[in-house]
Formats: sequence, C-alpha cells, structure tokens
Amino acid sequence: MSEKIFIFDTTLRDGEQSPGASMNKQEKFRLAQQLVLLNVDVIEAGFPIASVGDFDCVKNIAGNIKGLQVAGLARCNEKDIDRAWEALKNGEDPRIHTFLATSDIHMRHKLKMNRDQVLELAVASVKHAAKYTSNVEFSAEDATRSDIDFVCQVFEAVIEAGARTVNFPDTTGYALPGEHGEQIRYLIANIPNIDKAIVSVHCHNDLGLAVANSLAAINSGARQVECTINGLGERAGNTAMEEVVMAIRTRPDQVDVHTDVVTEHIHPSSRLVSTITGMPVQPNKAIVGANAFAHEAGIHQDGVLKERTTYEIMNPSDIGLTKGNLVLGKHSGRHALKDRIEVMGYSLSNAELDRVFSRFKDLADLRKDIFDEDIEAIIMDEIIKIPEVYELVSLGVMSGSMKLPTAAVRLKINGEEKEGAAIGVGPIDATYRTIAELTGTSSQLLFFSVSSFAGGTDALGDVLVRIEDKGKVVIGHGLDPDIITAAGKAYLNGLNRLVFLQKESEKNN
Ligand code: KIV
Ligand code: ZN
Repeated sequence: MSEKIFIFDTTLRDGEQSPGASMNKQEKFRLAQQLVLLNVDVIEAGFPIASVGDFDCVKNIAGNIKGLQVAGLARCNEKDIDRAWEALKNGEDPRIHTFLATSDIHMRHKLKMNRDQVLELAVASVKHAAKYTSNVEFSAEDATRSDIDFVCQVFEAVIEAGARTVNFPDTTGYALPGEHGEQIRYLIANIPNIDKAIVSVHCHNDLGLAVANSLAAINSGARQVECTINGLGERAGNTAMEEVVMAIRTRPDQVDVHTDVVTEHIHPSSRLVSTITGMPVQPNKAIVGANAFAHEAGIHQDGVLKERTTYEIMNPSDIGLTKGNLVLGKHSGRHALKDRIEVMGYSLSNAELDRVFSRFKDLADLRKDIFDEDIEAIIMDEIIKIPEVYELVSLGVMSGSMKLPTAAVRLKINGEEKEGAAIGVGPIDATYRTIAELTGTSSQLLFFSVSSFAGGTDALGDVLVRIEDKGKVVIGHGLDPDIITAAGKAYLNGLNRLVFLQKESEKNN
C-alpha cells in the first residue's frame, strides 16, 4: 500500500482571506459538513483571535463536527494560543496551528526580531501550545524565502518542544517545483528528529505553480498538503485541493501516494464554495471548471464517443459530475428526490429537503423534465438562505426597444406589505431603483452576473450580485426561471445579508 498524504483543508481560513470571500457562521458550518463528506483529514476552521465572529465559528465547528481534526490558527504568542485553545477545546482531536516568520525580510521589516529571538519565541510558543494538546503544528511563515539552515534549526527545536507537524509555507508563491522539491529533501535530510513530525507544505499560487510545487514536495517526502477548494485564497490563491487530489489519483505511476478524499464529493463541494463565497469558478479551471470535461472539437467528440479514454484522463463521475442526467419529473416523490440528492453528493436536513422538494414541485409544474443541474441550483439557493427582513411578493416589468423600462414591485418588509414603481435605464435598473426606494437603502452595486446551471432557454436563471453599504461588502443570489425576478431576488438576498451581518456584529459587541 502506498503512503498516505494528509489533506489539510484551509478553505475556511486562508481561503476566506480571499478578497470578498467572507462567509458567515452558518455557511462555514455547512462547508465544514461538506468537508466531512469529502473525508479530508484536517480542517482549519479559522483564526480565533482575529475577531469574535471568527472565534465563534471555530468553536461551533470544533464542538459539533466529528470524524476529523479541527485546527485553529494562532500567532506565536500566549494570548493567541490561549484564545485558539478556548475555541478548539471541545473538538475531537483539536490542533493548534501556530506560526512565525523565518525569512530575513519578514524578521527585519515585520517582526523586528533577530534569529535568536525568533527561535526562542517559536520554541516557547510550541511548548505553551503543547500544554493544551499534543496535536501542535508549527509553520515557518515565508519559509521558501528563508535561509534553509535556519528553518532546519527552528524545525528541530520546535519538534523537540512538541510540534507534531512542521509546515514549510511558500507564503508568497515564489518557489519553482524543482527548487521546492529540493527544499523538502534538504529538510528531511538535515533535521535529526524529523521522524517525529509530519512535514507539511502550504503553497500559494502567485506564479500558477501551487499544485506543481505541492506535488514536487510530496515526491520529496512531504506528507501533508495544505490546500483549499477551488484554490481559493489570498491574491492568486492556494493549492487547489481538487487538483492535487486528482493528480495523485490519476498518476500513481508518478506520485506513489494516496489520499483518503472521497473524490465523488469534489464537484458538489466546488459548487458549494463558489455559491457561498460568490467567487465564480473560471470555465477552463482544471477538474471543476464548466469546460473541464466538455469536448468541443469534432475529432475529440468522435473519439470520446468511440472510447472515452481517447481524450479523457479522468472519468467525470469520479469527481461527482452527473451533468445532463434526466432525473425526475412532475410525478416524482420526496423519496426519489432525496435519493437523487444523496447520489449528487449533498446531505440535507429534513427541513431543507422539504423546502427543496416544494421548489422542485413548483418547477415541475412549469417544465416537464428536471435535470440534476436544476436540483443543484435549488439546493444552492436554499443553502445560502438567511433570515428575510425583505421578501419579494411580486414583481412586474415593462420593457422593450420601444418602451421606457418601468418596474412595479411589491415587498414584504418585516411582515408588512409595501409597493412602489420606478423607471430606469433598463428593466434591472428600474427594479433595483424601486427596491432601494421601498427599503430605504442606498447600497452600491459592485458586480452583477447572470448564468444558469443547466443549458436551454427554459433553464433557471442564477443571478449573483455583490453590493456594498458603508464599507461592508456582501454577495446576493437569486434563482428563478425569469431572470428579472432572479435579479430582484439576488438584490434582496444581498440586502438581507447586510441586515444579518449588522445584527451578528451587534450580538458580538
Ligand atoms: O501562507 C502562509 O504562510 C500561511 C501561514 C499562516 C501558514 O497562511
Ligand atoms: Zn497561506
């Protein structure tokens, strides 16, 4: 049996540091549940000292998510570590992940510390963390730009102090694969007590090499890879989990290791992350992009029809892609829907299933055949639901090349109905002006996109907006066969999120 690579997912921590990708407590918990289905080994749930909200999310996940290790990040100081432990302590096998920079650039300009001070603080911090748990990870921030002999010295000392994982981050995405492989080989050859710890890598994608660097590190002996779903993360992102996992699975002849990830959950997990964060996946993204298994060229289509492996190195079903499956119709029952949803890689509560079933029935009244993509769109829409202060009751627009676009909107605001109308440059502008007037809000629309999960003119329109109000940026989703209605719903979803965010921060202060 080949050796195992531990998958450390940091979508909820480093992934969330991606600009505009913030998630609320419920969304983080939902994603943590999906990571359990994926069967990753460790999830980094957040940075508890960063805010009361972050602390709460880590505590909630550590206390309620079972079957994997939950990690919390802490800088190398007692306050951070104590706070991390406070959030993690009810977990099954909680991990304190503490970090300190080791590169001359960081030590001189950021930390204003010399090597001896950094070494001393790293050791003291790991010892402090080890009083709480034996599951301690130490990261040498900016390791790839550090003097490697100094990193060896620090790693040897922190292992001696109790670290069971030593992580070598490429914080700035600077390394090249050959070089990164060499660095890991050097560490393993030059740290006398390295057999007492797992060597981990954490690559950023600034040069587009995070996955290549992680694979090179594995071939040199690294046994933990830190990564995120869809490669989400600061700047150009982190190592994409789906890419590293599928590369290992597809090329055992070149990377003789395995992971325990249940790859059939990759596609639903990617959709979930993209929906929750409002960060679309580029169509040509490896593994999870919409075109990753699409064959446009006639020669390719012909080849795949004759024998799939002529142009496909992976089976789409291996990542849970069930594209184009005709699933259900008007007469399908709740049970059939539940079965299908499970095959698609989602796990819903009974209440969620009830809501999805009711919307499925509404759609089946309009359309004869319902596909997996339709069900998936409804699931996503239900998953991102938050309490609704503003509810759409009805929406009518008049538009066309000869008309002044006009919208008439009826809303329920805190249970009370209100209606209004406005004109605009186009039907969406008219709708948004009316909604702003009725709700008395003045948010700025930063981004608007309309797409559909399934193809065809009768597909459900999926609108994503990003709006800003008083420095707070949120996303909003709306789903409807009518795209103007979907746009109205997306805007209201964004406004509801702003209210929710405000209430949450009042609760935390
Ligand atoms: O990129 C980095 O160095 C990090 C550390 C905190 C592990 O995210
Ligand atoms: Zn990072």
